[in-house]
Amino acid sequence: MENPRIDLVLPQLRCPVCAAALERTDRSVHCAGGHGFDLARQGYLTLLGGGSRAGSGDTADMVAAREAFLGRGHYAPIAAALAEAVATVPAPDGASPLVVDLAGGTGYYLATVLDALPAAVGLDVELSPYAARRAARAHPRLAAVRADVWQRLPLATGSAGAVLSVFGPRNAPEIVRVLAPAGRLVVVAPAQDHLTEIIGPLGMIGVAPDKADRLARQLADFAVVEERAVRYRAAMTREDVTLEALMGPSAHHVDRDALTAAVAALPDAVDVTVSVTVAVYRPA
Ligand SMILES: C[S@@+](CC[C@H](N)C(=O)[O-])C[C@H]1O[C@@H](n2cnc3c(N)ncnc32)[C@H](O)[C@@H]1O
Repeated sequence: MENPRIDLVLPQLRCPVCAAALERTDRSVHCAGGHGFDLARQGYLTLLGGGSRAGSGDTADMVAAREAFLGRGHYAPIAAALAEAVATVPAPDGASPLVVDLAGGTGYYLATVLDALPAAVGLDVELSPYAARRAARAHPRLAAVRADVWQRLPLATGSAGAVLSVFGPRNAPEIVRVLAPAGRLVVVAPAQDHLTEIIGPLGMIGVAPDKADRLARQLADFAVVEERAVRYRAAMTREDVTLEALMGPSAHHVDRDALTAAVAALPDAVDVTVSVTVAVYRPA
């Protein structure tokens, strides 16, 4: 098998069972301890070490909705702000900087970041096989690994120049461990008024009132380097807002018939508030 994208990040990857270095032979990857892992035909490497109780991530339908929604460009300003934030991250001497997107979904944001950092390589760590297979073909310098971010990350200590967390779960101690000494964590989190026009009418899960406090508690081992609010209104069609409802956690709660009825009651185009914070952190 010729130069799969996983080779870009193999030196930084570690066995999820014993944390040893990994080598690839054709479609399988193994460590000196005899643990082996398969490279899927779709290009992602599964590095699940057992002991994960996190389920299997987003479903095929959720991931398809996410890919379709992001492809419409409504969140492109968020991706651009993220790329700007990551561009300020120092690169390690002599090495290609590694940008790791935890729970990176389809690779949409990481691909934009890599476009702005021509020397960098990217790794999308995802639990959902449906997301991982899309991420594996999202960008020529992006590799995808299926792993659980709540477990020990299958990455060498100090290997990441930047870690991204966009609307995803965050495991602070592991982020601290994998960051390089000058590395940075960049977090995109929804603000209180994110999607405010459609949350109620579509029965979606809103942003928890204590979201900012929880984030601050979760990242108590980090100091904020810079923080920026990204807020704009996006003109969304009924189809756009349906995809928005089906691509996130609301998909587990929203009844499809009720959603169809609620969307039909909306005007043809809705101006929806997109409101997030993009924050850069360093380990304190
Ligand atoms: C709200 S989506 C965000 C995806 C991506 N960051 C984006 O904004 O497009 C959350 C993602 O986390 C993934 N996920 C959930 N639990 C996970 C876990 N324990 N480890 C890795 N990924 C996980 C889901 O499969 C899903 O793709």
